[in-house]
Amino acid sequence: MNDREMSRRDVLNWLAAAAATGWMLDACAWGEEKDEKSKRPPKLASLMALPNDSAKGIDEPKVIVVRTAKGVAAFPRVCTHRHQELDVDEKDGSIYCPLHGSRFSLEGKPTNGPASRALKWYKVELDQDGSVRVDTRKNVDAGAWAPLPDWAKPKSGK
Ligand code: FES
Repeated sequence: MNDREMSRRDVLNWLAAAAATGWMLDACAWGEEKDEKSKRPPKLASLMALPNDSAKGIDEPKVIVVRTAKGVAAFPRVCTHRHQELDVDEKDGSIYCPLHGSRFSLEGKPTNGPASRALKWYKVELDQDGSVRVDTRKNVDAGAWAPLPDWAKPKSGK
């Protein structure tokens, strides 16, 4: 082996190590970015398209998002009677079950049977721009409204 061959081999080894390190760094950076993004629940709605005292049915994932003066909540889009997919009444924005006619308040409580159990509440996060993020992996206590940003709160007394 002469010096020239050693040098060529050293260069090739160095290039291979540099490439592997670079790929690993890229992979780490991608992983961190992916992890950072995956920590936040997905945006499923916007306050701009969700009037006060109304509900909106989301198809993917199956969720119902609700807005009232108290804030925003989200429920599974599944009836507590026999698991039929729930819908939202276009006329009054209320939540109903097309199979047997149960109705639910905007707080997820049954107001008309046969369903007798309330809907579970998902964790909701609101961005300042009005994006509604719903974490379907986490439940919160009923009544744990995600507070509206100041600009979206109803104006009182005017
Ligand atoms: S499945 Fe909804 S009321 Fe029966």
